[in-house]
Amino acid sequence: MEQDKDIYILAIESSCDETAASVVKNGREVLSNVISTQIALHTLYGGVVPEIASRKHIEKINQVIEAALEEAGLNLKQMDAIAVTYGPGLVGALLVGVSAAKAISFATGIPLIGVHHIEGHISANYIENKELEPPYVCLVVSGGHSHLVVVKDYGEYEIIGQTRDDAAGEAFDKVARAIGLGYPGGPKIDKLSKEGNPDAIPFPRAKVAENAYDFSFSGLKSAVLNYLNGCRMKGEPVCEADVAASFQKAVIEVLVEHSLHAVKEYGYEKFAIAGGVASNSSLRAAFAEACSKNNIRFYYPSPVFCTDNAAMIGVAGYYEYCKGVRSGLDLNAVPNLKLGARE
Ligand code: KG4
Ligand code: ZN
Repeated sequence: MEQDKDIYILAIESSCDETAASVVKNGREVLSNVISTQIALHTLYGGVVPEIASRKHIEKINQVIEAALEEAGLNLKQMDAIAVTYGPGLVGALLVGVSAAKAISFATGIPLIGVHHIEGHISANYIENKELEPPYVCLVVSGGHSHLVVVKDYGEYEIIGQTRDDAAGEAFDKVARAIGLGYPGGPKIDKLSKEGNPDAIPFPRAKVAENAYDFSFSGLKSAVLNYLNGCRMKGEPVCEADVAASFQKAVIEVLVEHSLHAVKEYGYEKFAIAGGVASNSSLRAAFAEACSKNNIRFYYPSPVFCTDNAAMIGVAGYYEYCKGVRSGLDLNAVPNLKLGARE
């Protein structure tokens, strides 16, 4: 996939609560990665409020795009394409990024490329692992998704497992709320777990009978809530750190077991993680250990490229660009866009 000239992609991401823009050179070199997060705003309400997210994206989008170009030391005319997340995500939030990208494309004539958010998360692995190439197995664990994916080639995916109910990040957020940690729960549980005993409470490890690669986290979430209620009713004190650590261990054990099973069954020697939950320190350590024991090469993005960012969209957009994919000005936000689908 070599070309004579350098390819610069301006990438835009606004699918949830981060307004982000980035300039990526030749698919793997991040020249800028600007993220304006709305976390503090949504913390007040205990979760993302879609209407507020959309309004905040509108306020920030132009500044963030300008900052990304400035940080890269480049101007719009030097961009070869504009990549934008068009799904899945919150429709009102997605529309802000999509509309901005379409307006720039219309005004400048620079080609537009709609990118799948999960494809972006997976592609974040290419930024710091220059030698990583498909095929490999990737576990995508974010606030909205828990997918085991075979990455057959750039832009070619087969979902072999997914959650039947809550996403892993959603379970972290709900459990965090139940133990009074607030939003967003993942990083807070990660931190508190370090002070707790992961073997203190035997929370269940859910198996899904029909598919060894599928996940289910709602039973675990209910078990945590029942445990907390039980303690309250009996007047027993709750050690929040033990609950956090035991819950986290239950999630991680299942993720590791299913993922390694998939890597071995499919016969790949490479495995990657992606998505917000992939920034969890215990999860990273557990996968590093399991992969090293099983002679599997383990790839993971830095935490800033795990949670939502536009650099990952620029990387995915580059590989779509190289394949000749271009979107029309009728590109629309698709809140439930399926991985591997083009709409
Ligand atoms: O990928 P992401 O930024 O947004 C989505 O596409 O959903 O993921 C956000 C999710 C949230 O549920 C958040 O609690 C979780 O990732 N998360 C974590 C950690 N950092 C973020 N979960 C566990 N441990 C973390 N350190
Ligand atoms: Zn995401």
